[in-house]
Amino acid sequence: MSTANILAFVVFPYIALTVFVVGHAWRYVTDAYAWNARSSEFLDKKGHFFGITLFHYGILLTLLGHAGGLLIPQYVFDAAGISGQAHTQLAYYTGLVFGLAAFVGCLLLLWRRRRRQRIRMTTTTNDYITLAGLAVATGSGIYNVIFGHFYVLDSVAPWIRSILTFSPQPSLMGAVPLSYKIHVLSALALLGFSPFSRLVHIWSAPFMYFFRRPLVFRRKVGSPTL
Ligand code: HEM
Repeated sequence: MSTANILAFVVFPYIALTVFVVGHAWRYVTDAYAWNARSSEFLDKKGHFFGITLFHYGILLTLLGHAGGLLIPQYVFDAAGISGQAHTQLAYYTGLVFGLAAFVGCLLLLWRRRRRQRIRMTTTTNDYITLAGLAVATGSGIYNVIFGHFYVLDSVAPWIRSILTFSPQPSLMGAVPLSYKIHVLSALALLGFSPFSRLVHIWSAPFMYFFRRPLVFRRKVGSPTL
């Protein structure tokens, strides 16, 4: 096992994940008022809806697919009657649709930040790094879906699980093609960067909104005493 492989697939993932966890806690405690998506809709609404919607549906469903497809071991799928081949086919078609949506949405968001004057003037270097990082991660992912055709269920998938269970097995990444390594490393770099960007808003999704109590209107009984 080469030193480069150990640095890339043991040391770097743990640094990125530590910065991710500690960074979010630190940002939450020290910078709670800036913990938001920094919506720019009020500055420029035109053309924003399509890019932001395409990107968000694409990235959320892609992340859901990654969690389900890579974190759950293949033997669980086998037990459910889903072979490795069927699993790979499913990942291919869903990855193609949702990954492409995320990538194209991301390019549209970048384009908007360059083209719309009000948005360009309020865009920070941090915003560009965030969107460029997302473009590299989603772009390399979609490249792998279309051109890669590498079997990840006995390589990348168990390697990710080995990292998360604190029993790293970098040798699993040895024979993985370069484009997959770029995808994995860019996603990890983005995880490490996210606490310092507007990506913190992911963890404040207003899920409770769906379960909140409806507003209660009460009929006033009698007339108010002044
Ligand atoms: C968990 C559910 C999520 C919710 C509710 C959410 C909500 C939002 C909202 C309200 C905005 C501001 C849109 C505007 O300008 O008006 C936004 C922007 C953004 N979101 Fe999310 N988001 C979610 C997940 C994600 C994820 C998973 C990512 C990426 C990994 C992401 C990346 C971004 C980026 C990069 C922007 C800024 C786009 C731009 O203006 O250039 N979001 N999000």
